[in-house]
Amino acid sequence: MTPVEEIKSRLSVVDVISTYLKLIRAGSNFKAVCPFHSEKTPSFFISPARDVWHCFGCQKGGDQFQFVMEIEGVEFREALRILAQRAGVELRHENPEVRNEHDRLLGLMELAVRFYEASLKRFPAVEAYIKRRGLVSETIEKFRIGYAPPESAGWRVFTEHVLKKGYTLTELEKSGLAIRKQPESSTETTHYSLLTTHYYDRFRNRVMFPVADHTGRVVGFGGRIFSAEGGPASGGDASIQAPAKYINSPQTALYDKSRILYGFEKAKVAMRKENTCIVVEGYMDAVMAHQAGTENVVAVSGTALTHPQLTMLRRLCDRLATSFDMDEAGESATRRSIDLALEIGFDVKAITLPSGKDPADLVCEDPVKWREAAAGATDVISYFFDKAHKRFDARTLEGKRGITQSVFPLIARLSRQVEKAHWVGRVASRLGIREEAVWDDLKKQQLPVSQSGAGRQNSPMARPQEEQRTRAHVLEERILGLLYAYRLPLSAELSENLFTSDAHRLLYAAYASDTKSFIASLADERLRLIANRLVFEVEMVVPPDGARAEYVSCIGELEREHVKHDLERITEDIRKAEEVGNEQLVSMLADEFRNLSQKLNKVLYP
Ligand code: UTP
Ligand code: MN
Repeated sequence: MTPVEEIKSRLSVVDVISTYLKLIRAGSNFKAVCPFHSEKTPSFFISPARDVWHCFGCQKGGDQFQFVMEIEGVEFREALRILAQRAGVELRHENPEVRNEHDRLLGLMELAVRFYEASLKRFPAVEAYIKRRGLVSETIEKFRIGYAPPESAGWRVFTEHVLKKGYTLTELEKSGLAIRKQPESSTETTHYSLLTTHYYDRFRNRVMFPVADHTGRVVGFGGRIFSAEGGPASGGDASIQAPAKYINSPQTALYDKSRILYGFEKAKVAMRKENTCIVVEGYMDAVMAHQAGTENVVAVSGTALTHPQLTMLRRLCDRLATSFDMDEAGESATRRSIDLALEIGFDVKAITLPSGKDPADLVCEDPVKWREAAAGATDVISYFFDKAHKRFDARTLEGKRGITQSVFPLIARLSRQVEKAHWVGRVASRLGIREEAVWDDLKKQQLPVSQSGAGRQNSPMARPQEEQRTRAHVLEERILGLLYAYRLPLSAELSENLFTSDAHRLLYAAYASDTKSFIASLADERLRLIANRLVFEVEMVVPPDGARAEYVSCIGELEREHVKHDLERITEDIRKAEEVGNEQLVSMLADEFRNLSQKLNKVLYP
């Protein structure tokens, strides 16, 4: 057995999904409210018999692995790792060296968290400072906040601690926790990297915020400078450049900044439940927000939201609220984040805070004030629209231009046409211009290519292209669903060429080549997805004892569809032949037409 098969044999789809969703019995299947799109009535189905799931609302579906990939927002390899662990299956890795290095780095990060946590206990002044800023012990423990010892304790306290535990200097450097000094002369380079004295701790005298990946493993840190007064710099010597208020782990094998959001793994459940994520700017803001009871909060580290980060969030919810500083929203990181969030289909909201305050300040003052601000988030387009109205005079041409310039780039990014229309209506009526004119201008709005280069198609929620649902197509779907659901025998009337789409032809050919094979054995994932949907549909509308009759009638109908289609084609050909006066062709086609009509009569009235 392959690891995948072994995992599947130990953990059914029902086992896996029931740890995430509340399942309701529906005949021989289960159903649930789909976690991947918003809905009130369940259209998410699980078949214990076939060990698959499918959602009729968003057309997603598959097996245990696809579910974990979707819900955890991870790639296949990571889903495999998660499920292997849950099932107690050991994975043999193609490259044990890489795996080993990875595991050792993770071990090193964990060691660092414990070291900084213990160190915080030894520096009561630091703990007092953190508590003064409003954090309670429970939160400090939950977020595993620590302290990196000050330089007065030495420049390599952590490095030496780690070496004693059996890690190497190279590993320390790779983890980003230690820095190797640049050699002062070229003769020094020999064996340079082997000397402990040539390394020093990256984080010194800093309040440490461990940054975890989506499963909670620590992969990096953010460190805030500690000064008892609370101000950013502690220096007295003006000739030394003041250290940055925050320093963060560099990009490492574990820590990919563009894919990690601070607090994500603690916020996941709440984001899904509230169908909203709140994105704040700082570590302190996120921690304090969680402490105040808003648990759907994550932080970026002072940068714009990236496409991968937004994709992770979009898998969990439809609304995104930000506490970003809107006054600086011009061409800044805030504005890029908002643009990208709109493009990816988020309903974007702005949380307005009293000026000069960030979420952490507000929670410290009074958690209720923060909760109210978060609950009262306003639609981001309304926000900019109202602001532009205060700045410009809508009665003048210049004013109209100013207002449209501030909101058009946002409206143009909306992925839903209904919403666009709503805004076009509002802009037109507030500015006293015709809607058509607004539409024209909106179409001219050039959208800069978003930073990912990926268009809307890549949005995780993008629906698969609506297939052409001709009558023949519907009949083919039903026939294939019946075949796969009830393992019906092949009919002499069926053949591969009868099917009009590639996917259907492939599904039919696979079934015809082995009527005992199951959907799971289809090599193409897209085909498995389609087959699953078709089987679920049939299971819902055709009871087992009605399967045969339905099968026979669908085949008959499909044949008639084909004959009708041929007749239409010949009629068209005859018309063309008559136009150019090709008598011979006309009479040939007429014969063909008669034969087909007779055939149609036969299939109609056998
Ligand atoms: P802020 O300057 O708003 O800090 O930066 P803050 O979160 O309010 O911190 P406190 O309240 O003074 O403790 C917001 C975020 O920007 C990143 C950090 O992630 C910080 O949380 N940042 C800021 C840096 O990465 N480096 C810096 O020098 C400053
Ligand atoms: Mn702050």
